[in-house]
Amino acid sequence: MGGTNPYIKPVESKLPTKSYTITFLPDDVKVEVDPKKLPYSREGLPGSILEIALGNGVDIDHACGGVCACSTCHVIVRKGFESIPEATEDEEDQLDNAPGLTPQSRLSCQSVPDGSMDLVVEIPTWNRNLVKEDH
Ligand code: FES
Repeated sequence: MGGTNPYIKPVESKLPTKSYTITFLPDDVKVEVDPKKLPYSREGLPGSILEIALGNGVDIDHACGGVCACSTCHVIVRKGFESIPEATEDEEDQLDNAPGLTPQSRLSCQSVPDGSMDLVVEIPTWNRNLVKEDH
C-alpha cells in the first residue's frame, strides 16, 4: 500500500539535489541516497526515510502503509535532524502514541531529508521485532 492521506495537510518537503547517506542503526547499514533514483519504493512520502529504507532492504514497520495514520514507523534521528522539515501537527499527533518518544523522534514515512547533511537513524527495538514488545 502507498500513497497519500487525503485527511491530512500535505507535508512541505524539499527533495535533495545531491547525494547523501543514511546510516541505519543498530545494524549499521549505510545507504547512499541518489536524488536521481528517488523514490526507491512506494511506501511513505517520496524521498522519506521510510521509502528509502524499504527500497534498500532495511525493514521498518509501517502498519498504515506510510500515510501518517499510525506510529509504527517511528524512528530516532540521531544525526542530521535539522535537514528534515519540522513535523506537522498530524505527524505529532500520531507520534504521541509511539512508545519511547524522544526529542529526535519522527515518523519515518513523513520525514523527507533535504540532503544537506548525512543522517544517522535508529530503528527502535519495537519496530524491529514486534514479538518482543513489552506490555
Ligand atoms: S507508516 Fe503509519 S504513520 Fe508512518
